[in-house]
Amino acid sequence: MGSGRNVAVFGAYGHTGRFVVAELRERGYIPLLLGRDQDKLLALTQPGLEARQSSVDDPPSLDRALNGAAAVINCAGPFVTTAAPLVEAALRAGIPYVDVAAEIEANLDTFAHFAERARAAGIVVVPAMAFFGGLGDLLVTTAMGDWTAADEAHIAYGLSSWHPTGGTLASGAVSGRRRGGRRVRYTGGRLEYHDEALPTLEWPFPAPLGPQSVIGEFTMADVVTVPSHLAVPEVRTYMTAKAAADLTAPDASAPAAVDKHGRSAQTFVVDVLVRSGGTERRVVAAGQDIYAISAPLAVEAVDRILTGRTRTAGVASAGAVFDAPDFLRALSSHLSLHVPLDTHG
Ligand SMILES: NC(=O)c1ccc[n+]([C@@H]2O[C@H](COP(=O)([O-])OP(=O)(O)OC[C@H]3O[C@@H](n4cnc5c(N)ncnc54)[C@H](OP(=O)(O)O)[C@@H]3O)[C@@H](O)[C@H]2O)c1
Repeated sequence: MGSGRNVAVFGAYGHTGRFVVAELRERGYIPLLLGRDQDKLLALTQPGLEARQSSVDDPPSLDRALNGAAAVINCAGPFVTTAAPLVEAALRAGIPYVDVAAEIEANLDTFAHFAERARAAGIVVVPAMAFFGGLGDLLVTTAMGDWTAADEAHIAYGLSSWHPTGGTLASGAVSGRRRGGRRVRYTGGRLEYHDEALPTLEWPFPAPLGPQSVIGEFTMADVVTVPSHLAVPEVRTYMTAKAAADLTAPDASAPAAVDKHGRSAQTFVVDVLVRSGGTERRVVAAGQDIYAISAPLAVEAVDRILTGRTRTAGVASAGAVFDAPDFLRALSSHLSLHVPLDTHG
């Protein structure tokens, strides 16, 4: 242990955790399989991999589980329960922490509660290092280019469908309860809770997807990550109406694997537009399976942290910690990227 290649994965046997474990192995890291259920851990264990049962209610078990780890990736959500105990354990162990939390309030808590201590300790803590929150932030940061401020950032999610996991549904329910059932949007440079109906509009996704009906103010973790380091007072996220309906359908089913990587047939396009004065800049990313793509995002983050390719320490979002265009280029086998020229309105 302690080779510098051991990376702990908390929630290793969850849907996303399994993708992260596989990606770590693919990249030559040795995943340490962490989770609260010994039987589920044992079912996942393969020769050469070590499983360590550990619980957020038992900090010494987390300390034992992180012994010899170079970093930890937290894939166990709802993160309202798991993020703080795992960040605390990472700080005690003196190792970087990355999570895939999509819960707006949990991500805000990570910034609020750990920013000072993580910075003082020189430890990198990256919340929302996944499809929602992380990818959008990398794309907005890339689209901004040399701009340090913009009037608006729009992130439109073109999902072909959305078969949610149990973790997604549980996290959505927790976030909903924390908001007292209210809706949230980022406007005027702050989060605003409200009870208004969400607008439906048409978003002009580029070909081949083309224009799609989307739900506006379908607010995702990007409203935490983007404003954490970029001066953009309006950050809006949109979701294809069909995928939004899939998510809330009473008979919603879990994702089913269709290829040898375990990916589902779901495809995504993330169309990012930033606007400053009369100029717009746009970056578009496309790929397959929002859960699967979260693994290369999280593992690339850990790899960059462990190899010193970071811009800051403390709690920070993907776009603040990493060279965003370079990070996205590194994912070219998972993401196709299109950066059109500036347009002037
Ligand atoms: N930001 C993004 O784009 C993104 C992408 C992927 C996933 N996520 C988030 O990641 C989380 C997991 O998603 P998933 O797709 O992997 O769901 P999943 O397949 O249902 O797995 C959930 C995992 O979390 C574990 N877990 C839940 N509560 C726990 C607790 N209190 N202590 C220890 N382990 C706990 C579960 O363990 P048990 O089986 O023992 O309960 C399981 O391993 C969700 O919050 C989801 O929203 C976000």
